[in-house]
Amino acid sequence: MRKLLALVVLAGGVAFAADGSAIFKSKGCASCHQPSADTVGPSLKKIAKAYAGKEDQLVKFLKGQSNPVVWPNKFPIMKAQLTMVKSLPDDQLKALAKFITSHK
Ligand code: HEC
Repeated sequence: MRKLLALVVLAGGVAFAADGSAIFKSKGCASCHQPSADTVGPSLKKIAKAYAGKEDQLVKFLKGQSNPVVWPNKFPIMKAQLTMVKSLPDDQLKALAKFITSHK
């Protein structure tokens, strides 16, 4: 019961401070993005480098409102993933951007 309650609260995205790492895992982002090795997608380190000091631009990217800067030629693969995050509330997207850019 307590577990169920926690899930309901998480789904509503209210009672807990947004956790970027948890969102990253729960949305399946980790299957293509490793911390420091390029796999299907660029490493989080590489993305963090491209977006250093530009968290706002990263939030825009996650909303589908700005162009890719890391591997633009592979953007179609990533574009399909944006449907999972682009309608998240701003605080969750900011937490996600913060988590990504923390990989230095
Ligand atoms: C099926 C594999 C795959 C999954 C799953 C995936 N990505 Fe990606 N991602 C890619 C590829 C390929 C690129 C390179 C294209 C690009 O730069 O946009 C990329 C690029 C990115 C970039 C760099 C954008 C830029 O400016 O170039 C970010 C940020 C990113 N992904 C975040 C995420 C997040 C957050 C999730 C989870 C919702 C996610 N990715 C899930 C494959 C994936």
